[in-house]
Amino acid sequence: MKFKTLTQYLVEQQRQNHALQAEVRLLIEVVGRACKSIGHAVGKGSLGGVLGSLESENVQGEVQKKLDVMSNEILLEANEWGGQLAAMASEEMETIHKIPNRYPKGEYLLLFDPLDGSSNIDVNVSIGTIFSILKAPAESSGREITEQDFLQPGTQQVAAGYAVYGPQTMLVITLGNGVVGFTLDRETGTWMLTNENIQIPADTKEFAINMSNMRHWAAPVRQYIEDCLAGTTGPLGKDYNMRWVASMVADVHRILSRGGIFMYPWDSREPGKPGKLRLMYEANPMSFIVEQAGGMATDSVNRIMDIQPTELHQRVGVVLGSKNEVERVRAYCAGS
Ligand code: AHG
Ligand code: MN
Ligand code: MN
Ligand code: MN
Repeated sequence: MKFKTLTQYLVEQQRQNHALQAEVRLLIEVVGRACKSIGHAVGKGSLGGVLGSLESENVQGEVQKKLDVMSNEILLEANEWGGQLAAMASEEMETIHKIPNRYPKGEYLLLFDPLDGSSNIDVNVSIGTIFSILKAPAESSGREITEQDFLQPGTQQVAAGYAVYGPQTMLVITLGNGVVGFTLDRETGTWMLTNENIQIPADTKEFAINMSNMRHWAAPVRQYIEDCLAGTTGPLGKDYNMRWVASMVADVHRILSRGGIFMYPWDSREPGKPGKLRLMYEANPMSFIVEQAGGMATDSVNRIMDIQPTELHQRVGVVLGSKNEVERVRAYCAGS
């Protein structure tokens, strides 16, 4: 069987869809290349000395793993010099990273979660990288880029994607016209198009949530999960299965493969914080992908991609996946 490469796919997309700028195509190639390097480091594990934690904390108060910082550096270095970007932002950096003056600047902004699923690194479970591409506001041209320029709703994303470092290394992307997946041919180091037109089934019997937080959830979320657990004789009339990898990339990848609902809803553990996951480099890119695959993504009630961000590291509740199930959770939560 002959597969298309990522390069071929992107060139064809550019020919068919003239709105796709060459800069975006190059940017995705470079991000794909950086993800290959990260995947390579991940695969070496103890042999590469990449496991374990550092003594530092990131801006959200999480202890950084070696791979969080390494992956961040790989993405910065790969994307700095190509001339497509004005600046970058990441979970692992307090503020934005402007393109140094020695390189030409472009008009795009790149945001990333360099290593998603950090708690799974040292136990050899799938982890990933998530990215989102925005355009710098037109009025920013000719002046320094600021954090404010990044605060655009998810609907403004030009492209988004993730890489998952699992039994296979895969890259899943959307340019705003559907979702496609590439598998890394580890012998030749090439991303090959293996999953065309990815679609999430509208109905599901599988949910993903960290059940240990149940006592902290809002009452409607608790009610929904209790109803799922009640099985065929309960109000939802079906037997549900549960999965929780604790790497968002892996949980979302499963949903893109066979449907399901993923929930990291608001909970009462950290007062004043609307959720655990980050809007700009986790929730927005994943919502763009999920919507482009026919699914739905909300903060339990509102569409995530419509949220006007007010802070770079803003958090948000996340409920995404199979459309009818996400709608069902919305119906539970809308009244509260
Ligand atoms: P990160 O490793 O980038 O900080 O993200 C971790 C996130 C996400 O991947 C996952 O869904 C969630 O945290 C897991 O949280 P719990 O450990 O609370 O289950
Ligand atoms: Mn983290
Ligand atoms: Mn993450
Ligand atoms: Mn991370």
